[in-house]
Amino acid sequence: MDSTQEYRCPVYSSSNIDAEKRAQLLERPVKSSKDILALVSPILQSVREGGDDGLRSCVVKFDRCVPAEDAGFPLTLQAPFSDELARIDPKVKEAIDVAYKNIKAFHGAQMERESEPIRVETMPGVVCQRFARPIGSVGLYIPGGTAVLPSTALMLGVPAQVAGCKNITLATPPRPDGSISPEIIYIAQLVGAKTVVKAGGAHAIAAMAYGTKSVPKADKLYGPGNQFVTAAKMMVAMDSGAKCAIDVPAGPSEVLIIADKTADPVLVASDLLGQQEHGLDSQSVLVTIDCDDSYVEAVNAAVEQQAQALPRAEILRKSLSQSFILQTRSVEEAFEFSNDYAPEHLLLYLKDAAKTVELVENAGSVFVGPWSPVACGDYASGTNHTLPTVGYAKQYSGVSTSSFLKHFTSQELSSNGLKNLGPYVEILADVEQLGAHKASVSLRLDKIKREDL
Ligand SMILES: *[C@@H]1O[C@H](CO)[C@@H](O)[C@H](O)[C@H]1NC(C)=O
Ligand SMILES: *[C@@H]1O[C@H](CO)[C@@H](O)[C@H](O)[C@H]1NC(C)=O
Repeated sequence: MDSTQEYRCPVYSSSNIDAEKRAQLLERPVKSSKDILALVSPILQSVREGGDDGLRSCVVKFDRCVPAEDAGFPLTLQAPFSDELARIDPKVKEAIDVAYKNIKAFHGAQMERESEPIRVETMPGVVCQRFARPIGSVGLYIPGGTAVLPSTALMLGVPAQVAGCKNITLATPPRPDGSISPEIIYIAQLVGAKTVVKAGGAHAIAAMAYGTKSVPKADKLYGPGNQFVTAAKMMVAMDSGAKCAIDVPAGPSEVLIIADKTADPVLVASDLLGQQEHGLDSQSVLVTIDCDDSYVEAVNAAVEQQAQALPRAEILRKSLSQSFILQTRSVEEAFEFSNDYAPEHLLLYLKDAAKTVELVENAGSVFVGPWSPVACGDYASGTNHTLPTVGYAKQYSGVSTSSFLKHFTSQELSSNGLKNLGPYVEILADVEQLGAHKASVSLRLDKIKREDL
């Protein structure tokens, strides 16, 4: 095969694909989850039953970590973390600090709105309220593997901190010598994490969901990960023994770009490649509006040219073949496809891009106009980047401050309020034949009448 051929995205046109092909394009290149569940289940079991020892053997086996210490090597770091472990290049530190400030500003504004109690007097003397409280203990999963991801630590750690979560635990795969990258430790310090767990993959999820001697149990788990991590999160969420919630069922990262003739093919190509760099199962989709074959050809030529110069050319070569370009004729047609696909990241490279945001029904986060590359949202603009993938944008939102809160409600009735509402409750309790329910109201109404309250 001609090697330059391999850096190209296959091209389809909406005018000559049938419904079946369209449905196939809306699918993601993911493995069947059944096989993965079978692989993950014994890993969860070994941590749940074996505690720290089970976790330690998984770290050696799956994280390929060979720590210098003896068989009892420590699985966690506890705050306060030493500055020594958090020493990073001053340039990187400044960049992390800028990102931290922006993410905190945006999520802080959301907290102001979210934490305000709601109070409604639904009937005279009947007052209902709703209050927000932080989730007590949260477990944040920071993937490692093909790249170090300090940005994910920020995106999860900052909303947890802003929401006021008391126990923040970070888990991330250790390096082969058992250490954790200093960027992650620096961010753990910034967001006030108490524990860093040196483990990646399904076993890290299990340790935080069930808790071990050295890993605190979390009430809710957050963060992206590979298919094993995703499967582990779904399994612990279903296990009533774990009493652990999860954020979104995340899968491989993806982008969908809607472009018209005004979009520069070189920039479009850079965003397609930026997505593919994440890994072999990432997907990039370009939907063009009223662009001819020569435009599509220009994009593919730019993809080819840029890909060869990038450090991760090998990953790109393999993953581009599962991305594609779809030519459509109108704005409506393009958005209809995009809404059906429900992308994690949606880029709008269109004339009057801001106006088209109202056409978006399903997307994780939207990047508007030519000067808003996904990389800015990934790192530092202020929005979070933990977003629903694999089409879950149809029913889930990305991680935000509210993901770290739970709500409870209250009601307070005055004697007058009970006089107003009680008779209706008695009727409904009668209908359901719940006599004690009814009596709890009737006895009070009698007392109010008797004592003239
Ligand atoms: C924080 O963790 C400690 C130790 O595991 C636990 O005792 C405490 O209840 C946790 N606090 C909250 C608010 O969950
Ligand atoms: C990301 O975070 C922001 C601010 O916290 C929030 O409003 C938004 O719903 C979150 N999700 C997405 C998809 O951006």
